[in-house]
Amino acid sequence: MAYEDLKGKVAIVTGAGQGIGETIALTLAGVGMNVAIADKNPVTAEQVAGKVQALGVKGLAVHVDVTDPASAEQMVQTVLSELGQIDVLVNNAGRIAYKKFTDLTLEDWYDDVNVNLHGVYLCSRAVVPHMIKRRSGRIITISSDSAKIAEIYTAAYSAAKGGANALMKVLARELGRYNITANAICPGMVKTPLLGDTFFGDLGEEKMKQMIKVTYPLGRIAETQDVADATLFLASDAAKYITGQTISVDGGYVMY
Ligand SMILES: NC(=O)c1ccc[n+]([C@@H]2O[C@H](COP(=O)([O-])OP(=O)(O)OC[C@H]3O[C@@H](n4cnc5c(N)ncnc54)[C@H](O)[C@@H]3O)[C@@H](O)[C@H]2O)c1
Repeated sequence: MAYEDLKGKVAIVTGAGQGIGETIALTLAGVGMNVAIADKNPVTAEQVAGKVQALGVKGLAVHVDVTDPASAEQMVQTVLSELGQIDVLVNNAGRIAYKKFTDLTLEDWYDDVNVNLHGVYLCSRAVVPHMIKRRSGRIITISSDSAKIAEIYTAAYSAAKGGANALMKVLARELGRYNITANAICPGMVKTPLLGDTFFGDLGEEKMKQMIKVTYPLGRIAETQDVADATLFLASDAAKYITGQTISVDGGYVMY
C-alpha cells in the first residue's frame, strides 16, 4: 500500500469539520492514520469523526478555538491522552473577510489575523514541545496563493497567510535539528463553503469561468482532494527532505 509509513500514526487536522480539512482528515485516515478532527463546530467535528471511524481507524472529535491559547493547549493534551502521540499537525482552520480595503472593519482585520496567523502560531506552539521530545514531527499549514500574489479584497487574509508562510520557514530553520519539518500549502481557488458567495466576485459566473480557463493552466479550480493529496505527501516519508517550502497546489495558477 502507498504511504504504508503513515499507518498507525496520529494527525491533528484543525478546521476539519468541513471543506478542505474534512477531505484531509478522510485522506489521512484512508492510509491508516488515526485522526483528531479539531474544529470550533462540535457538530460537524463529530460527523467527520464518525466518517473517519468508518474507515477502521481512530477518529477523535475535539472542540477547539484555534485563536484561544488555552483551547489550543487543551486540544493537544486531549489528543495525547486519547491517541497517545502526535506525528502530524495540519493547521487548516481558516476564515476570510472578502472585502475592499476601504470597507474592511477593524473586527474583520482582527478576525482574519486571529484565525489564519495567530491560530497557526498557537497550535504549532502547543504541539512542538511534544514533537521535540520525540525528535519527529510534521507541521503543515494550509495557507493560500493570496499570500503570494495579493488578490484584491483579501487585505487581512493575505497579510495573515503571508505571516503564516514566514512562520513555517522559521519553524523549518529552528526545528530541523529535531527532525521536524514545517511547510505551507498554498491553494488557489478550491470548491468549498469558504469560497461561498465570493466565488464569482465582481465578474459573474460566465466571466469567472472564462477567467479560470485562461489563468489556470489545468483549466479548472481545485477539488478539496487536490489539496488533501499534497498534504498526504508532505505528511509522509516521501517528503522527509522537504521543509520550509510554500507549495502552490493550484493547477499552475501561481508558478513560484
Ligand atoms: N476554499 C478556498 O478557495 C481556499 C483557497 C486557499 C486557501 N484556503 C484555505 O484552506 C483552509 C480551509 O478552507 P475551507 O475552504 O475548507 O474553509 P471552510 O470555511 O469550508 O472550513 C473552515 C473550517 O474551519 C473551522 N474554523 C474556523 N475558525 C475556527 C477556529 N477559530 N477554531 C477552530 N476551527 C475553526 C470552521 O468551523 C470550518 O469547519 C483555510 O485555511 C483557507 O484559508 C481555502
